[in-house]
Amino acid sequence: MKKISDLVPENVRALSAYVPGKPVRQAERESGIRCIKMASNENPFGPSPLAVAAIREASSAVNFYPDTDANELRLLLGARHNVQPEQILVTDGSTALIDIIARTLLAPGLNAITSEKSFIIYRLVTLASSGRFIEVPTRDDGFDLEAILAAIDQNTRIVYIANPNNPTGTIFFADALDSFISRVPEHVMVLLDEAYSDYGEFYARKHRQEYSRSLDYVRAGRENVVVLRTFSKAHGLAGLRVGYGVGDAHMLRYFAQVRTAFSVSVPAEAGAIAALRDEAHIRLSLERNAEGVEFLMPKLREMGFRVVPTSANFIYLETTDDPTRLARGIQNEGCIVRSLAPWGVPNALRISVGTPEQNRALLKAMAKAMQGVNAG
Ligand SMILES: Cc1ncc(COP(=O)(O)O)c(C=O)c1O
Repeated sequence: MKKISDLVPENVRALSAYVPGKPVRQAERESGIRCIKMASNENPFGPSPLAVAAIREASSAVNFYPDTDANELRLLLGARHNVQPEQILVTDGSTALIDIIARTLLAPGLNAITSEKSFIIYRLVTLASSGRFIEVPTRDDGFDLEAILAAIDQNTRIVYIANPNNPTGTIFFADALDSFISRVPEHVMVLLDEAYSDYGEFYARKHRQEYSRSLDYVRAGRENVVVLRTFSKAHGLAGLRVGYGVGDAHMLRYFAQVRTAFSVSVPAEAGAIAALRDEAHIRLSLERNAEGVEFLMPKLREMGFRVVPTSANFIYLETTDDPTRLARGIQNEGCIVRSLAPWGVPNALRISVGTPEQNRALLKAMAKAMQGVNAG
């Protein structure tokens, strides 16, 4: 008789586990010094104080199960986005919803498409759902929407589009998205991952462009578009785990059948509601992030990296050194950054923008680490 470990299906055996940004305590143990984390695109300016107060208050009610549909938050989001509450599905982070959508729509023989150098979770959830994963080459470091359209066949069920893209920080604007969406066939679900939408809107405005009309597709009754948003980035609540999708009510009911019941906790819903109302905190986070980007970009270029202009809260840079070795050297100088080698990009690092003090510390750590790499 075979052992259970020999019976794990082939598609699961072939998966490699998601490698997250290293937790601060682990990095400090490894490197023996105090570390700051600039590796997971979190908000370095902290959560909204209003959210913290709401979480504290809600914690006295955690003897009760949460409202599994997060109705209060759903109502608020519906009003905010001018859609019906039934067109919103709240999950424990948007990663959970990406997984739910893959599990709902994929099966052996079916495929999902995205760009090279995009969010690694797309690959994991596709393969875990027994789908075939197709990546098309990037164009100008970001999504090549025409190439994605050309890759669609009758077995395609999902196209994952990250805008702004993680890890390259690239963006495309509303007209390009309209043109793309109008040509996607109806048997394909477009998962529009707008985790960095607040940053995207900020940068689009700066370039006098319109960021995205993604919610208009849902308002117009389009069944095969779902827009994903999260409280993990501009709202500063990555550790709380709240995200949501805006989409067709009928499709969202299927996704709701696949999700885990009670996955959004009582404090998580309360914190998200408060964070949504704290617009001043979001504005401040976006402005300070833009200052950090402007400070870091030229300095990183001076250091010899190829730096891609970002429309998010992180910076993608290519190096001629081994990125994993370089990231380790930077960690040994007190800053955790992300080597993109585990993402299949063998020559790049991704750095999350920090506070002014963190950004200065990062540059110092990088300069020292590069001396070490060149000497060694
Ligand atoms: C493109 C993209 N989508 C989704 C997420 C996941 O966010 P959440 O914390 O809501 O699961 C991230 C997080 O880094 C991301 O970069």
